[in-house]
Amino acid sequence: MRLFIAIDFPEEIKQEFFELSSELMRQADAGRIIPLENYHLTLVFIGETERVTDVKDAIATVCRTGFTDSLRIVFGGVGSFKGRRGRSHTWWVGVEENAELTRLANKLADELRVLGFAIEKRAFLPHITIGRDVVTSGPVALDLSEIELSASAISLMRSDFKNGKPVYRELFSCALSPII
Ligand code: 2AM
Repeated sequence: MRLFIAIDFPEEIKQEFFELSSELMRQADAGRIIPLENYHLTLVFIGETERVTDVKDAIATVCRTGFTDSLRIVFGGVGSFKGRRGRSHTWWVGVEENAELTRLANKLADELRVLGFAIEKRAFLPHITIGRDVVTSGPVALDLSEIELSASAISLMRSDFKNGKPVYRELFSCALSPII
């Protein structure tokens, strides 16, 4: 199964991102909106594996190591990655510089590598995808309200394709222990 580790969002925050995604689709020539339930912040992409118990153990170990009580995440700035094909782009909302969040993502990746998982070495670039295969012919103006989140847990997510669309399901979650 295809796995990744993420921070899930409360409904109100998902709603804000969904409105942003809807506005992007209104201004774009083409693109795929992100459904309300699919918004999350990926910490580590694991990919195909059946070693779910090992992944859960790695997450539990990291959760116990101690993080600032509530990880404060501030969203801001819209950007895009160039797609593999043609003119389309993946659009996203970024996250303000956050050393604690990067430390969390790196610890998870390190713990999984020790167990033999081949985790990509690319630098952690926290983002929330708001549109896929987006094609634009003019400028896009998105009004981003101030969105903040205090994350206190992380989730192991399973990704499946149903009718050609990604469906995400939480398999396990773990509270981040505060630094004592
Ligand atoms: P994306 O939103 O930028 O596509 C589930 O696919 C989650 O894992 C998504 O948040 C996706 O990011 C992320 N992800 C990170 N690296 C990936 C990769 N190599 N392949 C697919 N998804 C990846």
